[in-house]
Amino acid sequence: MSEGAAKKEEKPRKFQAIRGTRDLLPPETALWNRVEQTAHEVFGTFGFGEIRVPIFEPTELFARAVGGETDIVSKEMYSFEDHDFSELEKLRTVLVFRSPDVFNAHSISLYRNQLAEFVKALEAGLKDPEKPIPATPDNQRALTDLQAQTNSIELMLQDFKNTPQVLQRFDLRVETIRQTLRVISFGDVLSLRPEATASVCRAYIEHNMQQLPQPVKLYYMGPMFRRERPQKGRYRQFYQIGAEVLGGGDAPAIDAEVIEMVMTFFDRLDLQGVQLDINSIGDRNCRPKYVELLRAELLKVKDKLGPDSQRRIETNPLRVLDSKLESEQGIIAKLPRIADHLCEECATHYAAVKHQLEMRGVFFRENWRLVRGLDYYMRTTFEITAQGLGSQNAVCGGGRYDGLVELLGGPPTKGIGFAIGEDRLILSLQESGKAPAQQGRDVYIAWMGERAHATAIRAAKDLRKAGFSVELPPSEQKFGKALGQADKLGAKYALILGDNEVSEGLWTLKTLADGSQAKYTEPDLLEHLRKQKALKL
Ligand code: HAM
Repeated sequence: MSEGAAKKEEKPRKFQAIRGTRDLLPPETALWNRVEQTAHEVFGTFGFGEIRVPIFEPTELFARAVGGETDIVSKEMYSFEDHDFSELEKLRTVLVFRSPDVFNAHSISLYRNQLAEFVKALEAGLKDPEKPIPATPDNQRALTDLQAQTNSIELMLQDFKNTPQVLQRFDLRVETIRQTLRVISFGDVLSLRPEATASVCRAYIEHNMQQLPQPVKLYYMGPMFRRERPQKGRYRQFYQIGAEVLGGGDAPAIDAEVIEMVMTFFDRLDLQGVQLDINSIGDRNCRPKYVELLRAELLKVKDKLGPDSQRRIETNPLRVLDSKLESEQGIIAKLPRIADHLCEECATHYAAVKHQLEMRGVFFRENWRLVRGLDYYMRTTFEITAQGLGSQNAVCGGGRYDGLVELLGGPPTKGIGFAIGEDRLILSLQESGKAPAQQGRDVYIAWMGERAHATAIRAAKDLRKAGFSVELPPSEQKFGKALGQADKLGAKYALILGDNEVSEGLWTLKTLADGSQAKYTEPDLLEHLRKQKALKL
């Protein structure tokens, strides 16, 4: 290899944020902080407390809550097996991919030895006192099957005659072993959370929150993970701000107050073009009948639908209503509407929610096609859009999910909540010019000389204590350069400290906007800056 080529190879790899993830940087993070701070304040006024749940949970939790057939669970989760058996897992891979030479007794015997080694380790792992391989029925069955297979290969080897029948039998045997090996799980299968409602319900059950005064009102904020195709407003790591009300009945006033809270929050942020859509998707009583009716109607027009909708006729006909395909809009408009098929209880509940929203002055639009992509919903569903977001314009989604806590092993509990896509909220605020400008420093301390340095350090400490943002350069600079630097950082003032200032005890303060300068004693300077800050100058 030439020297040039070797150098090229040595070049360190350039790392970049993974596709669909991104860094949030200043000054944008100031807006994120403002949004989050406002959420803490507004949700606090509605009596909500903050809950922080883990970033990962058993995959099973999300599969049960969100639904195994949903896009989120079936193809978008980041899942991994969490265990201490990586050597054993490697041996499994070897055994799965290995094809022993069936005409060679030695090769078969080697395979048998490796299998025996695996079986022994699996047996030990299942009994591990510290962190065992989970003794699931699948794993137990696999152990018994593999033990039997090892023994019968042993017998086969003993009367190994190279007869074709024996060889054929061995081939089949290897295939069965492969299948058995594949079902073994060495530890819990975990997933990065794609949403947080399931976790909040899990926490409600785990901490016996049904014994607290009901309803329990919780909110959360943080990253969620879905392996979607990234585009504007759609990321693989995105952030949600959400809230859940658990227990305490299903009074329509609860639904309305939750919606009122999000709208109040958006109002406080001055989010533009806010549009609230609501719907009722019925309950276990009336929805299945409507879904069947919808399916029957869809089957009649199946040929006119695109492949996605055709598939959904079988898996989830409600999702056809979500379709954005131009060619399907005319067909969908003629489909039966759920509002006409709600049972009496659901219809009454829906009417009362609408009345409650009106009482609160919350404007809404009824949207019979609003079905939502998660399985746990029933009755009230809602979505909020905002301006400047293009096709990914849902900035908040939510709804009622009575029965979810029970489904996760808890007591019968009513529930309703929402989650706001924080990335989209921020995007919309930025698009409508609500982003704060770059945050400059209050004071840049331009110092020269050792004595001045000591004074500058003390001045910085006092100014920061008083709440000013201060830039203290780590090494001496000529005053001209220091003032240039102060300008670039957007500082409001430069505090000039040289030998003269220190010996006179009079510090020079330069206002960078107009270039004016004045001298102050230390206490006067602090007082002056305080007054200016109070006047927001
Ligand atoms: P969701 O509709 O799946 O509902 O998500 C809520 C919001 O999160 C969406 O409206 C959107 O703003 C944002 N979002 C979702 N996926 C992405 C993504 N890939 N990139 C950026 N933003 C995204 C839920 O998650 C439910 N847990 C809401 C809920 C809470 N229902 C009851 N309680």
